[in-house]
Parts: sequence; structure tokens; C-alpha cells
Amino acid sequence: MRIDILTTFTEMFPPVLGASILGRAAQKGILEFNLCDIRQYSENKHHNTDDYPFGGGAGMVMLAQPIYSCLDAVDPEHKARRILLSPRGRTLSPEVARELAKEEHLLFLCGHYEGIDERVSCAMDEELSIGDYVLTGGELAAMVAIDCIARFIPGVLGSSESAETESFSDGLLEYPQYTRPAEFRGMKVPEVLLNGNHALIERWRRDRAIELTLSRRPELMEHVELNKKDIAFIQSIKKDEKARLTDRRLELDEYEQQALNDRLQQILSRLPKQPVVRITYFRPDSCKEGGAYVTVNGVIKRLDTVEREIRLVDGTRIPIEDIWDIDEPPHE
Ligand code: ADE
Repeated sequence: MRIDILTTFTEMFPPVLGASILGRAAQKGILEFNLCDIRQYSENKHHNTDDYPFGGGAGMVMLAQPIYSCLDAVDPEHKARRILLSPRGRTLSPEVARELAKEEHLLFLCGHYEGIDERVSCAMDEELSIGDYVLTGGELAAMVAIDCIARFIPGVLGSSESAETESFSDGLLEYPQYTRPAEFRGMKVPEVLLNGNHALIERWRRDRAIELTLSRRPELMEHVELNKKDIAFIQSIKKDEKARLTDRRLELDEYEQQALNDRLQQILSRLPKQPVVRITYFRPDSCKEGGAYVTVNGVIKRLDTVEREIRLVDGTRIPIEDIWDIDEPPHE
């Protein structure tokens, strides 16, 4: 794929496009980057690329002329799919990236200052945003978009599988990953991942991905294709939640027990001398007073689950991802 980048800050790109996976893809000839300095096309005496806005107001506006001249030089027959990076555009998503990855020739125009002369938009095919926030310019957005799109181009990633198994590829957040050692600072890798039973591992990963998505980004679940086992798993989670409402004592299945033990071990291993005797977590939707609580020296303290961390009396902050109800003190 050929990628033209029209910018007034060409120097921002080589460190990113030349490194790591993008750099390797360029070396292999899968990607061909063409950096175009808009300033060189300015017919203005001082090579200006911006001017004051008609009608007044703060900031400067990018001139149409240098951009049109640059487009004429780089893509005279308008063969490229021309994309203007702008917070006004369609939001980048895996679907958008996958669609753009099919193109042979993309052209990114990076806006700057307060905006671009509106007459440039007729020369472009579309506008693309990387999120609902405003950057100082389109360059970082172009790099994010290129990186995201490139991963869907065959041959860019080492293993063709990895673009399809990570967060969002199946609509779910990614399951937790571990590498060696099997135990690190008292934190153990879940047993199921060590036993080589691939069917069980797949199921464990899928369950964890569903669980994470349900708790962190429930709105994503709408677009996930669920099989029978997924549905059974979700029903079991829902049943547990119902049980929590009526009876906080929880029957944990094998995986939950393992996950709970792992999680507790992680937390407790970081609290050598903390007077934590009990941690209780209520899912926000299963209880009006949703949240996690610790009992510290007999005083129940609500934890800040919004920030997903435990704050202890001495100010220690511990990230807390997911903890099930615990009725028994984890240690005394
Ligand atoms: N330029 C400034 N902010 C942007 C954003 N969020 N996405 C794309 N281009 C931008």
C-alpha cells in the first residue's frame, strides 16, 4: 500500500513510521510512505501555509493553495483515497481500519492551527477522527490511523493470527495474558493456562474476555456474536449476580475460585503488613451501593471502584480489576 502524508511537520513521522512493525513493513515493501511537505508548495513569498480567518476569531487557518498544489503534485489523477484527519470526521474503529486496509493508495492530510480552509474539503474523500478530543494537529492522528490500518494488511504482522485474536477483533476486550515465570512475586499464572488443555484454555480465555467486556464496556456486548457456551456462561454470571442480591455468600466455580485466589494473592502479596481483613466487591449493577469495600481494623471502607483501585488507610493505592464477594477473611 502506498501512503502519502501531507503535513507541515514532516519531521514528526520518520521515528514512528521507521520503527518496529511499520518500519519492518516498509522495508519489506508492503508499505510505502511518501512524506510531502505542504510548505514547499506555498506560492506565498514567505512560504506561509496559514493566514487569519475571515470574519475574525482566534488562531490561524491553513491556506487552500499550498494544499491544492501539493495534492496536484502528489496525486494528480486523484487515484488515492484522500483522508483529512479531523475531529469532525467518522471515528476510527476496527471496521473502518479493516475497510481502509483494502485500499492500494491512501493519502492523509494533516490539519493544523484552528482549522483548514473549508474549500479543501471538496478535494478530499472523507474526514477521519481518532476520538472525541482535539489534538494540536492531525499528525499524531495520522500516525495512529496508519498504525491501526497497517495491522490489517496481510504480511504486516508476524503472525496473521494476532490481528484477529486481540481486543475488539471479535468485539470483546482481550483476555489476560501471562508469560514466564509461572510465579512472579507470589502472583501465580492461572493453573488452566499451564496444563496444555487447549479446549479448556480457549474456553477460559473466552470467558475472561466476556467477563471483562461485561464489566468494563458492556455496550460492546451488543455487537458480539455469542455461541451457546458463551450464552450459558453469561447466564451463569447473571445467576450469580441475582444470588448476590439475595445472599452475598457465593458459590464459586472452579475458574472463579482460581481467579479469586489469584487476584487476592496479587493484592495481598503487595500488602505485607496491611491490616486488611476483608475485601468485598459488589458489582455496581447488582447492588444499589455497588462497589468494593475493605474492612480495615473493623471499619468498613468503601473503595473507589470508579478508579478501580483500593486506597488503604496509609495511602497505598492498589489497582483492583475484579474481585468477587468474599465472606471469609482472606487472612487474619
Ligand atoms: N486533529 C485534531 N484532533 C483530531 C482528532 N481527534 N482526530 C483526528 N484529527 C485530529
